[in-house]
Parts: sequence; C-alpha cells; structure tokens
Amino acid sequence: MIIRPRRLRNSQSLRKMVRETRVAASSLIYPMFAMEGENKKEEISSMPGQYRYTVDRLTDGIGEAVDSGVDKIMLFGIPDEKDAHGSQAFAEDGIVQKALAEARKNFPDLYLITDVCLCEYTSHGHCGMLHSHDVDNDSTLPVLARTALSHVQAGADMVAPSDMMDGRVSAIRTELDKNGFYNTPIMSYAVKYASAFYGPFREAADSAPAFGDRKTYQMDFHNSREGIREAILDVKEGADIIMIKPAIAYNDMITKVKEVISVPVATYSVSGEYAMVKAAAQNGWIDEKRIVSEMAIGAYRAGADIYITYYAKELAQYFKEGFIG
Ligand code: PBG
Repeated sequence: MIIRPRRLRNSQSLRKMVRETRVAASSLIYPMFAMEGENKKEEISSMPGQYRYTVDRLTDGIGEAVDSGVDKIMLFGIPDEKDAHGSQAFAEDGIVQKALAEARKNFPDLYLITDVCLCEYTSHGHCGMLHSHDVDNDSTLPVLARTALSHVQAGADMVAPSDMMDGRVSAIRTELDKNGFYNTPIMSYAVKYASAFYGPFREAADSAPAFGDRKTYQMDFHNSREGIREAILDVKEGADIIMIKPAIAYNDMITKVKEVISVPVATYSVSGEYAMVKAAAQNGWIDEKRIVSEMAIGAYRAGADIYITYYAKELAQYFKEGFIG
C-alpha cells in the first residue's frame, strides 16, 4: 500500500500541523440579554447558565466573557412596556440604549453589536407592524431604520437586523449614512429560517408571537436556493456580513452561501441548540465539551468566519487550552 491516510494521523503534533480548520476567539460573539429593573440576574430556565441582567448587573456577565477571552457581545433587550408599534425599540432611554451606555462605560474596548428587531417590543410579538393580521413590510422599514440609528447613537459598533423584512438592509444603510455613520457595519440575518430552534430564546426575551407564526417572513426550511437569493440581495443592499441561522441543521447553507458571496459569513448557534446540549449534558448523556467543540468546528469547517454562540466563553477557553483550534 502506497497511500495510507492514517500516516498523517499518527501523533497529536502531526494532526495539529495538518489541520484544515483553525479558529480563534476573535471570531466568537456572545449573545446577552438586558432587562429593566435593578440588581437582578435571572437565570433563563430553558437555558441553564444563561441570564437576563438588569443594566446595573450587566457588567458581571460581560466581565466573565471578557475574562474568558471573548471581546464581542450581541445585545438583546427585554423592555417593561410593549406597544403595537414597538416604540421602546428606538426610545432614547430604551433598554438596549441604556445597556449600551453601561457596557461602553465599563468596557471601552468591547465590540458591541445589537440585534435590531421589533418582536421583543411589540405587544403582538411580531417582528414588524401589523395591518390586521398581516405583518406589513414597507411600514416596518422606517421603524427598523430608526431603531438601528438609535442603537448606533447609543454606542453600538455594529447593528444586526433579524426581522427578515424585505429591503431592511437598504433602509438601515440609508438612515445610518444620512446621519454620518457610514462606517458602522451591518451584519444581516439574511438566511434566517422559521425554526423551532428559537423556542428557548422566545422564553428568554418574552417575544413569542401572540398569534400565528413567523412563516410569512422567516424562510421555509425546505429551501436552499431561496437562502442564496436572500444573501445576494442583502449584499447588494449593503450588508457587510451575512448570517445563516440556525447553525446546526443548516451547515449546508454556510457552505453554499460562502461560495457565492465575498463578504464574511457568520452563523448563529441558537438557543435551542444550546438548550439541547445543556439538557443532555446535565443528564450525563453526552460529553458537553466535545459536543460543543464538534458543533463549533463543524460550522467553521462548513465555511463560517464568525460564530455566534451561548457557548462563546467555554469555546474561548477550549481554544486557549488547545483542546480545539
Ligand atoms: C429576533 C431574534 C430571534 C433570535 C434572534 N433574534 C428570535 C426569533 O426570530 O423568533 C433567535 C436567537 C436564538 O434562538 O438564540 N427576531
């Protein structure tokens, strides 16, 4: 036998040399939840180890992330008051706006990304304006643009629209540019599927739709070419980074999208992925560290440049130890 693939697997040092996928903590983003109130840190019951923080306690959570080597966070807000138009999303003293100010004050070098959406802020829990039972696309665009601008004015380094309205990237880009923020990047949740994997998040953010589902705006999971279309459209509208979401069960889309666009590709390992792994790990049924590592490397191997995950702190640690990476 001349050709023996096992030759290059013979030692850890050799295996490391020939690795095809190399990763670094600089590509990790940690999602965090801010809520109204004082001095509270509430564990999310379906996501053990993840919390909702009041603004004054947010520093505890961010500090842990920074200590572990994560220097980018994505902020979600849980307002006290919701209305039909989601007006707390762009309020100057809104929850995300306050959280941004606090984070910036305590961590001047932290890279702050915000999720731009209305579902946490609307009384009906949909991601846009309702016209009877229809989520209206075009009247939602100015609200999203205004929300993105208010995040940037409050200190966000990057905005990430997740609503899946058509034309939102262009609307946000125009609004940011008009106000001089032409250097603030947009990471678009471009290839976002209507997925049961978001279940725990909706508990965490209190954002489940009051009626119906999100299938008229989020994508049908049977489709692949449609995802490529969404990615190309968003790049044309000015998206600087394209996201695929969820990550698990959608790694094929990471590879396909990466082939046709030339901006960086991110993927979001969402709440349901975290909840499943955590639950099985707590039961002693799986090896959490190895499962988390394989899921992450699977996403990077598929082509992800950026990985958004509730396991960011642990992964940063695994990279540091050389367990993976
Ligand atoms: C807001 C939004 C959602 C997630 C990110 N942004 C929920 C949804 O679309 O219903 C999901 C994140 C996760 O599950 O971890 N639209």
